[in-house]
Amino acid sequence: MKNILTNVINPVSCEVIQFLPEQVISIEGSKITAIIPKQEFQGIVDEDLSHQFALPGFIDLHIHLSQYYIRGLYEPALLPWLNKYVFPEEARSKDNEYAQKLSRDFFSALLKDGTTTAVIYTAPFFEACNTAFEIASEIGIRALIGMTLMDKNCPEPLKQDSHKAIEDSFLLYEKWHNKNAKLDYVFTPRFAPTCSMELMQEIGKFAKKHNAWIQTHLSENKAELNLVKELFGFDNYTLVYEKAGLLSEHSIFAHCIHLEDSELQLLAENKCKIAHCPDSNFFLKSGEFPIKRIEEKGIAYGLGSDVGSGTTINMLYHTKMMNYRQSWEPVSAAKALYYITLGSARLLGLDSEIGSLETGKEADIVFIEPAEDFLVDDNIISKLVFCESDFTITHTLVGGKEL
Ligand code: GUN
Ligand code: FE
Repeated sequence: MKNILTNVINPVSCEVIQFLPEQVISIEGSKITAIIPKQEFQGIVDEDLSHQFALPGFIDLHIHLSQYYIRGLYEPALLPWLNKYVFPEEARSKDNEYAQKLSRDFFSALLKDGTTTAVIYTAPFFEACNTAFEIASEIGIRALIGMTLMDKNCPEPLKQDSHKAIEDSFLLYEKWHNKNAKLDYVFTPRFAPTCSMELMQEIGKFAKKHNAWIQTHLSENKAELNLVKELFGFDNYTLVYEKAGLLSEHSIFAHCIHLEDSELQLLAENKCKIAHCPDSNFFLKSGEFPIKRIEEKGIAYGLGSDVGSGTTINMLYHTKMMNYRQSWEPVSAAKALYYITLGSARLLGLDSEIGSLETGKEADIVFIEPAEDFLVDDNIISKLVFCESDFTITHTLVGGKEL
């Protein structure tokens, strides 16, 4: 049992984030057992962090482990950027020593920046993905992790044999699903241009049967859309994934920028989820997330860093980008913060365990220290999002353990 005196910032909805100054958070085992105002607390405070803020651990809905070292390498369009920087870098993870170091650096960096749950793409190699699971398991972070699938239209060293890629995905699922409460497998066809219909259909069939998670990219870039049309001949991009059996309530589609109304309708009907990656969308000049149309359809979404086309793993930075990457739609600080915490926990069906600081939930907590001259007042949420560089993340707990 541990009692920490601190100031609590707690998401309740996309409109309401509570600010509760001077609270004692009690942690027993992996869970929060009480949050009590300082004046009412009877016990002994073990740690005085009254100059800091406690937030629920951040959730990153879309990130490429395999691209952690190539953040910021600039080529301003998706397909040339993939060819020039991403594919050569992902090929390096065939060397498992490289993949191990990369995984360690990646998970350490996530925790250092307050991310306690992430949905992750690894390189298209069984061993690289398995290594990511092993290291995630050893470190104790929460994650959905998948081996990226590509069986066409990519360089030889990355191109997988379709049957082996399917077998490897099933093996990884069987090895890591239900093995560890914090980890799960996510089937990861990269995107339609690098996947055969057969590959996607086999994955879709298995995932549907097991209610398993799927992630892929959808409608990010205009040249990508044209390529999909050329390769598959369907009227639109989403119909390709429908035909492949990839539309489900456990499917997370990254980007979703250039969708027609009928495609949004299809995503809504199938209860699909969206990972919105504002920083990446502007880095690669992909376009602007149609936030209003997506909200009107009632499609669940949350924020992703999309590192390496996102420039940083720091999710607070991405909350600011969620506002800055809309030309006309205002995005409040509360809403942005909700989409890296409780909103994304709900999307993942994990909101009974994580996403906010409440009695009975897992103690996934980020402690943040403001700059010395920082004035604490009721505007803290807004300052946290828009002046994120004035704050330092001092430590991160996952399931009550400091990692
Ligand atoms: N589409 C297919 N692969 C990728 C990737 O690695 N990054 C981004 N941003 N889009 C993709
Ligand atoms: Fe991506």
